[in-house]
Amino acid sequence: MVGKRKMRGAILPGNSSVEFRDFDIPVPGHGEALIKTKSSTICGSDIRAIYHEHLGKGPEGYQPGMIAGHEPAGQIVECGPGMRRFKKGDRVILYHISGCGVCNDCRRGYMISCTSAEFRRAYGWQRHGGMAPYILAEEKDLVLLPDSLTYTDGAQAACGFGTVYEGLEKIGVCGNDTVLVTGLGPVGLATLMLCRAMGASRLIGIDVIKERLQLARKLKLADHVLPAGPDNVKEVLELTGGRGCERTVDCSANEAARLVCIQAARKWGRICFIGEGGACSLKPSPDIIHDQKTIYGSWVTSIWKMEELVERIERWGIHPERLVTHRFPLERAGEAYALMASGKCGKVAVVFDEELKQGGVQSDDRERESNLHAGPGRRPAVKRSFLRLEFRGADPGRRPGHVRVGPRVRGDRGGGGLGGRIARLSAHRLRVGLRQREGNRTDSPRDT
Ligand SMILES: NC(=O)c1ccc[n+]([C@@H]2O[C@H](COP(=O)([O-])OP(=O)(O)OC[C@H]3O[C@@H](n4cnc5c(N)ncnc54)[C@H](O)[C@@H]3O)[C@@H](O)[C@H]2O)c1
Ligand SMILES: [Zn+2]
Ligand SMILES: [Zn+2]
Repeated sequence: MVGKRKMRGAILPGNSSVEFRDFDIPVPGHGEALIKTKSSTICGSDIRAIYHEHLGKGPEGYQPGMIAGHEPAGQIVECGPGMRRFKKGDRVILYHISGCGVCNDCRRGYMISCTSAEFRRAYGWQRHGGMAPYILAEEKDLVLLPDSLTYTDGAQAACGFGTVYEGLEKIGVCGNDTVLVTGLGPVGLATLMLCRAMGASRLIGIDVIKERLQLARKLKLADHVLPAGPDNVKEVLELTGGRGCERTVDCSANEAARLVCIQAARKWGRICFIGEGGACSLKPSPDIIHDQKTIYGSWVTSIWKMEELVERIERWGIHPERLVTHRFPLERAGEAYALMASGKCGKVAVVFDEELKQGGVQSDDRERESNLHAGPGRRPAVKRSFLRLEFRGADPGRRPGHVRVGPRVRGDRGGGGLGGRIARLSAHRLRVGLRQREGNRTDSPRDT
C-alpha cells in the first residue's frame, strides 16, 4: 500500500532556483492511476514561464507549490476503481494537460486548449507533475508507451515531439522538401529529427548557441547549420539555388528568426510558428501575399495525434532520447534546470530507476544513424535500438557481478527478456563499469 507514505518533489519558486518539499504519495481515486515516474524531461516553456519567473497569471499560470515537470513517462503501479483501458504495469506517457473532457476542444482531443477555467489543469503547472517519484494521473490523459521505446523516448513525446509532430502534420513534410528550422533547442532538434524521418530531402538549422549548432551537426540532424545573423535569408537562398525552402519552422520565438522563416520560404511555401511568446512584424505584401505563402501556428497536439506519433516513432525506428545530452537524478534537479536555462545542452532529463542505470550505455552511432535515416519502408533489417550495458548487481535477486550485455530489441524492457544475455564479467571489469556509470551520471556531455 503506497498511500500515506511521503515523497520529495521539486517545485519552482520563480527565481531561477529549485526547491524540494515533502508530499504525500497520492492514492488514486476513480479513473485515476498512480504512476511511478521514470523519466521527466525539461521543456523550454518551463524555463521561460516558470523557472525564471512565473509568467502566466490566474488559472493559466503555474500555481506556486505545484510539483513541476510536464513531460513525464512512467509505469502504472496502482489503479483506482473504474479504470477502462490501462492497468497496473503498463508503461505510459502523460498527455500533459488534463482537460474537462466535455468542452469542444477536449472532444477534439486538444485538452491543451480546454475552455473550462475550473477543470483544465496542466501537469506541472496547475496540478502536480513529473519532478517527483510518483504522479497521480487521470486515465484519459495516458498514452501507452510501447516496449521498444524507453521511458525517456516517451517523456520526449509528452510535449516536445508531440508539439513538433502536430506542426509538421499541419504544414505537411515529404521528400520534396527542404526544411529550415530556426532555434535548435530540444524542440528545433526534434523538428529536424522528425522531418528526416518523414523524408525531407534537405535540412537547414540556425541557432545562436554554438553548442547547439555543434550538437545538430554531431548528431547529423541537419545537412547545413548556420549561426544566427543578419545574412541568414541570403545564406539560405544560396543553399537552395535562390529559391528558398518549401517548409520552414520557427522553434526559437525570436523575432528576427521568425522573419527569416518567412523570407527564406519558397513561393507557395508553408511556415510554422512553434516558438512561444515575443513578437513578429512583417510586410504582408512582399513577405507573404505576393509569394502565396501561408503561416501556421501550432499549439501542442491532440491526444490521438500523440498516440499516432508514438506508433510512427516506433515504425520509423527513431529514438527521441537521442536528443538527451544530460541525465540527472531528482535530487540534482537544480543543476538540471540551470543547465537547461543556460542552453549549453540538448534535452535535459531528470530520471529514476532503470533510466538512471543507463550508465555504461554507449550508443552505437552507426546503428542509430541507420535508424535515423531509415525512413518509412527502409527499416534496418535488425530491429535493435542500442546496446545496453547495465549493472545488475544492485537488484534484489540478482547476484553481484552479473552484467547484462546485449542488443535491446522490441519487447525487451531491459528486464532480462528477449534478446538479453547475461554475461559474467570479472570483478575488474565490473569496477570499471561502475566507474563509467558514475561518470555518466554526472553532467558531462553525452551523445545518447
Ligand atoms: N507551440 C507549442 O505548443 C510549444 C510547445 C513546447 C515548447 N514551445 C516553445 O518552443 C520554443 C522552443 O522550445 P525549446 O525547449 O527548444 O526551447 P529553447 O529555449 O531551449 O530553444 C530555443 C532556441 O532558439 C535559439 N534562438 C534564439 N534566438 C535565435 C535566432 N535569432 N535565430 C535562431 N535561433 C535562435 C536559442 O539559442 C535556443 O537554442 C520555446 O519558445 C518554447 O516555449 C512551444
Ligand atoms: Zn512543453
Ligand atoms: Zn475541456
